[in-house]
Amino acid sequence: MGFLDRIPVISLYADTRGWPFIIAWLHRICGLLLVGYLWFHLYTLLSLSSPPRYDATMKFYGFLLFRILEWALAIPVIFHAANGGRLILYESFETRDDVAMIRWVVWLSILYGALLGALMLIGTQNVTALFFWLAMLVAGLALAYGVASKIWTTENSPFWKFQRITGAYLLILIPAHMLFMHLNYAMAHEANTVLMRMQGHFIKAVDISLVVVILYHAGYGLVSLMGDYLASQTLRIGLAALVILVMLLFAVVGVKLTIFI
Ligand code: HEM
Repeated sequence: MGFLDRIPVISLYADTRGWPFIIAWLHRICGLLLVGYLWFHLYTLLSLSSPPRYDATMKFYGFLLFRILEWALAIPVIFHAANGGRLILYESFETRDDVAMIRWVVWLSILYGALLGALMLIGTQNVTALFFWLAMLVAGLALAYGVASKIWTTENSPFWKFQRITGAYLLILIPAHMLFMHLNYAMAHEANTVLMRMQGHFIKAVDISLVVVILYHAGYGLVSLMGDYLASQTLRIGLAALVILVMLLFAVVGVKLTIFI
């Protein structure tokens, strides 16, 4: 972690509060950023109902600045995913070697960012959607099952268990989703390519699973964060109800879009 220690703000907090404190905060901030992006992403996908509108929107986001921002999104995604994986590993398998694990998180994040950037620059790769998503689904479900079998009999609430199980599923599916969508430009940015792919029942099922699982995971994350910081129980319950309502609304919109497109 030597190079991070040389950044003044980080080294100050590392010395006074310790690395686990910094990592926990980064995890939270990245989680919140991802919730904001998720809502925006689902909203953008609504324009698929009018292919010319979708293509125009994507053309607008094709400017260099947005392409850089799109790549930069990989940083919170992969950091939250890798660090979430680290936490799940602790909780499920009681593996604990903080220094080695944090080093893995940082290097895996850098490697993933470089891979995604290279794919975005090359932009000519391809793979059969069915083959790619079948492989990822098997890996995601296997990991989720492995975690479920470890934590199922613990004392934690079922909601907490589902958040860890969904985290394990997302650990494979989310980085895979980002890589897949940037194999070439048409994959995610041309309405006809997206619509054609989404006609397959298998792809519809994978997409629906992603929508439902992410919204549950993110919703539980928001509610548990509020529990940590809000003293008033009334406020906590009111805001939790609001989060559940918003997530349900996005789930209905996302599932309807996937089925009827
Ligand atoms: C990609 C794989 C992912 C994994 C492995 C993962 C894992 C985790 C874990 C283990 C926690 C609990 C942290 C704690 O209690 O200290 C968590 C919290 C959270 N996650 Fe994820 N997550 C992933 C993706 C996502 C996505 C895509 C979103 C949003 C769209 C998201 C939003 C959140 C939020 C808001 C929290 C609460 C913040 C916190 O407790 O630190 N996560 N995640």
